[in-house]
Amino acid sequence: MSSASPPNRLCIVGLGRVGEEVARQAAKSGHFGPLPTDNAILGTIRRQSDKGHKFALREIDETGHETDGLYRTCYYDKLLDETDFLESCTHVLFALPAPQTDTDQRAMDQLSETLLASLRSACLWIGVISTTGVYGDHKGAKVNEESVCFCRDKESSAGRLWHFEEYWKTRIQQACDKSEAKEGMGRASPVVRVFRCAGIYGGGQSALHTVYKNGAPKPAKAPRQKNSAGSDTLTPVILTNRIHVEDLAAAVTSSMQLQGTKFVSYSTISTAGQDLATTAPFRIYNLSDDLPEARKVVLEYAASIFKAKGIKLCEESIQESKASGRSRRRLTDHKIVSNDRMHEELLPDLTYPTYKEGLDAILEESNTPWGETKTKD
Ligand SMILES: NC(=O)c1ccc[n+]([C@@H]2O[C@H](COP(=O)([O-])OP(=O)(O)OC[C@H]3O[C@@H](n4cnc5c(N)ncnc54)[C@H](OP(=O)(O)O)[C@@H]3O)[C@@H](O)[C@H]2O)c1
Repeated sequence: MSSASPPNRLCIVGLGRVGEEVARQAAKSGHFGPLPTDNAILGTIRRQSDKGHKFALREIDETGHETDGLYRTCYYDKLLDETDFLESCTHVLFALPAPQTDTDQRAMDQLSETLLASLRSACLWIGVISTTGVYGDHKGAKVNEESVCFCRDKESSAGRLWHFEEYWKTRIQQACDKSEAKEGMGRASPVVRVFRCAGIYGGGQSALHTVYKNGAPKPAKAPRQKNSAGSDTLTPVILTNRIHVEDLAAAVTSSMQLQGTKFVSYSTISTAGQDLATTAPFRIYNLSDDLPEARKVVLEYAASIFKAKGIKLCEESIQESKASGRSRRRLTDHKIVSNDRMHEELLPDLTYPTYKEGLDAILEESNTPWGETKTKD
């Protein structure tokens, strides 16, 4: 006797800038539902609810917006005590910083037990938002998903995300081994997809926001450095990759939609010609646009389109703080990120293939700090 599959249900752990955009696009995809009555898309938020709880789950309607309805408690370190609903989630996306404390890690261990519990859990797909920062410095060489990750330092956020990726890789391998041992069972554990994101812009953060706040970048002398022989040489220009949050969310949503059925026989997995995007238990994707560019060039482009639009910028150019780990990485990590796998398996075309299309679109958005700015005649 065959029965209809239960509806797909998505939980986004960490409903921030990325989580919200994924929720919006997942809602529009029609892959989850029915919306909003079935609590088909939920996200965790850290906000005081009217019941005084620190964490809450927020329900998303079909347009991707918060409904008035459900608020359920979701303490990070007690997630499982009160969230049995997770057992009926088919898709779970982690869009928050990797666990930073032992308490966070214990919560994650508990959560993974629930998600991976074979046959009991409905989970098909687990996604993890990570960073291309995990590759570290490749001295300007191109990196793909098989490249070595040099950034494993648990003190840095990129290093913590690398450990988080490894955590899920190990957990899913263990689940596969267990599942394979049960003859004829087929897959009883979800697939894990890691999304290593380049610098994310959009959703209220971009080079336009930086330039609007800090002023146009000043023309600078070409930076110089000493080479190994002690001579003065030009510092190589560091190109960086970025991705618009909408394209990021489109790629993640596309991956989710490849998982629509629970049981895939392991005998069909990992053979030549197989569709790895659908069947591989663990797969990594670099998410970045098609044009790596020097940060300064992007800031100059932002300043130029403000100028063309007649929007005045402050005269003073404020120096960016170089103290943060991310700022330090920008100055030292040099690699070009390949997005071939993303294009081949998830997203043939980007809405914002380069920073130019992305910034041009953001300039026109109404909910920006310069939205009310008077333009010159
Ligand atoms: N920015 C980049 O360029 C970049 C590049 C690559 C990867 N990433 C990764 O992408 C992730 C998502 O980026 P985003 O821009 O969406 O960040 P975001 O807007 O700061 O959202 C992060 C979300 O995680 C929640 N959160 C943080 N710590 C938590 C904790 N201990 N327990 C429960 N929830 C917690 C936040 O809740 P609150 O709102 O309550 O703080 C927020 O909802 C980042 O965390 C980062 O690891 C970022």
